[in-house]
Amino acid sequence: MTEEGNIRIAILGLGTVGYGIFELLKRQREELKAKTGLQAEIGKILVRDASRSREGVPQQLLTDCFDEILLDETIDIIVEVMGGIHPAYEYIAKSLRAGKNVVTANKDLMAVHGGELLDLAHQTKRDLLFEASVAGGIPIIQPMKQCLAGNYISEVVGIVNGTTNYILTKMTQEGMEFSEALAKATELGYAEADPTADIEGYDAGRKLAILASIAFHSRVTFDDVHTEGITKITAADIRYVQEMGCVIKLLAIARETEEGIEASVQPMLVPNRHPLAAVNDVFNAVFVHGDAVDDAMFYGRGAGRYPTASACMGDIIDCMRNIRFGCTGRIGCSCYRQVTVKPMNKTRQRYFLRMQVQDKPGVLAAIASVMGNHGVSIKQMVQKPTDSDHFAELVLITDVVREADFRNALTDFNEMEMIQEISSQIRVYG
Ligand code: NAP
Ligand code: HSE
Repeated sequence: MTEEGNIRIAILGLGTVGYGIFELLKRQREELKAKTGLQAEIGKILVRDASRSREGVPQQLLTDCFDEILLDETIDIIVEVMGGIHPAYEYIAKSLRAGKNVVTANKDLMAVHGGELLDLAHQTKRDLLFEASVAGGIPIIQPMKQCLAGNYISEVVGIVNGTTNYILTKMTQEGMEFSEALAKATELGYAEADPTADIEGYDAGRKLAILASIAFHSRVTFDDVHTEGITKITAADIRYVQEMGCVIKLLAIARETEEGIEASVQPMLVPNRHPLAAVNDVFNAVFVHGDAVDDAMFYGRGAGRYPTASACMGDIIDCMRNIRFGCTGRIGCSCYRQVTVKPMNKTRQRYFLRMQVQDKPGVLAAIASVMGNHGVSIKQMVQKPTDSDHFAELVLITDVVREADFRNALTDFNEMEMIQEISSQIRVYG
């Protein structure tokens, strides 16, 4: 704080989100005083190259030396928007130890080191707030920690990656193949130059680890989350599931069951009647089921400069209020339980299966027999005509089955000559 009692804020990183926060802090200058009772000013901004000028940013605010920020006792709040694990981890840990409060948008970091950093914040009685780390501008972390605190939450399911939701929307609405839709997402700046984290489900997996830890009050890390991406989804899959009254979405799902927490990210069939089926383009949504609130859905923009900066600003304002009333560290880590994470092969769900088989008597019976031997019951099956006289396409949906049983049936299918190809296997939500 300055001698006049103004809060001083340092921003680490001046990219998409950092610049948005810089702008909002300027825009909200007068409002901040009214909202928190304190005036705020930007103390320093950490960049890699402090000699390079940035439009609208006074040069004297820029520094490329983190210690200059760390050793400045007038700086109360550090906003980390550099991304990545290192040096963000070290900078946040040092800031907390130096008695500073921290706001971060860094899901990569929080999904792996969230537990230890929150413990550190608890020891130092400082705020470590991370609303922007999941679903960008959508308020979900504070609502789960505060507004829904009176619930036993049994399920959190979300569309938390905008890039993949955009790709799947284009494939559904315009019949594009995956590669074409990815190229469009890249052209529009939604997908990164290296889109692996998005399309393989890692980005959503990191967000789910954070959400699950908060929902079930038990630490879930990224390594605990089973992740599958959308690269194998084809336009044909999408056409078939549409005929069945469903769409395909990349869902991040966490459930608490009697055998432990299930946490996975994968493309899934979602019935058209479910609210998540209507979440399109780059939009995100998180659906929470609590024993008291029943179903609640949070919807909005999961990324982008101002939506993400909006979430960071909310945290900064919370932090300022806590500083004013001397109660920083009030809402820290909420993991007071230790629940095991259930291995994927013990989970139970329905499956959509599409395969190319020989078109001759006895094939259907043989397939049904293999499934029966593994305890996999078929709920719905259709045979589709193909251009070939010798092959047919089978599309089926199973009843709820144990993942391990379904996998064993697939292993047997792979050894059957009458099955030419298993084209797709997608889990069904609900
Ligand atoms: P970005 O555009 O790449 O900006 C990152 C900034 O941090 C760049 O200005 C970069 O400097 C700077 N930086 C990186 N490492 C640094 C270091 N060691 N020292 C000094 N400066 C460093 O990233 P972003 O999109 O703003 O994302 C920031 C964070 O917000 C990430 O954790 C991301 O996951 C999270 N987030 C982003 C969004 C979104 O829509 N963009 C949404 C939700 C959450 P250079 O320019 O010199 O490389
Ligand atoms: N890459 C993410 C997405 C945005 O596509 O949703 C940052 O969290």
